[in-house]
Amino acid sequence: MSSTSGGAGKGGAGKGSKGTGAKGTGAKRTPGRSGGKSTGRDGSLKVHVKTAFKRSHSSTLWLERQLNDPYVAKARAEGWRARAVYKLIEIDERYKLLKPGQKIVDLGAAPGGWAQYASKQVRSVEGKGRDKGRVIGIDLLEIEPLAGVEFTVMDFLEPDAPERLRAMLRSEGGDGLADGVLSDMAANATGHKQTDHIRIVHLAELAAEFAREVLSPGGFFVTKVLQGGTENDVLTLLKRDFATVRHVKPKASRADSAELYVLATGFRGSDTVR
Ligand SMILES: C[S@@+](CC[C@H](N)C(=O)[O-])C[C@H]1O[C@@H](n2cnc3c(N)ncnc32)[C@H](O)[C@@H]1O
Repeated sequence: MSSTSGGAGKGGAGKGSKGTGAKGTGAKRTPGRSGGKSTGRDGSLKVHVKTAFKRSHSSTLWLERQLNDPYVAKARAEGWRARAVYKLIEIDERYKLLKPGQKIVDLGAAPGGWAQYASKQVRSVEGKGRDKGRVIGIDLLEIEPLAGVEFTVMDFLEPDAPERLRAMLRSEGGDGLADGVLSDMAANATGHKQTDHIRIVHLAELAAEFAREVLSPGGFFVTKVLQGGTENDVLTLLKRDFATVRHVKPKASRADSAELYVLATGFRGSDTVR
């Protein structure tokens, strides 16, 4: 299903489990044996979540982390759909990637934080003429319609996914090319470190392959990887086609997480027949 909408740029938590906060999760904030509030060493108030019937220990920890994460609260207050948006904002502010009029593909876009921010930067809602950009997003999960974002539910691992995305880039008078490809795709964690690492790097490699097929010369590519041994292979692969390739660890990416981003800029152009 494809959706494009033309309303406000921000607001509204997406469907599914990828919102910023804990609304509807049944979080108990009342004190109890394992619930309540305490003051951290830095003086901040920390919410403890009571273990509830049917809630696993890992869900309880996730919920507690969400409730105590300043980026989650900030995202909610500022109307972004995901705390993840601050990772892209930081990368963009540092490397000046997103500009009015650009065509951007967002892989793994749900619930829509990156797409919201990209839409604002490329002016896909209010831009005029050459200043009006486009944001095309896909995910396994549906999202609430987002202003200026052309969204389709799609599994990027399906063989026809790249061609379907190229068709979206050719629609609406497009030339089939993009100025930037963003991938924040992450398969659900299995808990097995090496398996999770291999799955995420596989998604990153496929995203890189797609980027080199659709990017215009000078284009950029951002992808999530996990530290764990083979993330440098993605870097090596990209060095063939991009002037500059680097690892970036934004502050909003949890310090205790192996998550890392690869940023490739200055695409040299493709020899692929488009
Ligand atoms: C960390 S979330 C992305 C958050 C997003 N950047 C935002 O700001 O809202 C990762 C997303 O990747 C999606 N994903 C994982 N594997 C995928 C696949 N094979 N095809 C499409 N999306 C995928 C997940 O469904 C999930 O929504």
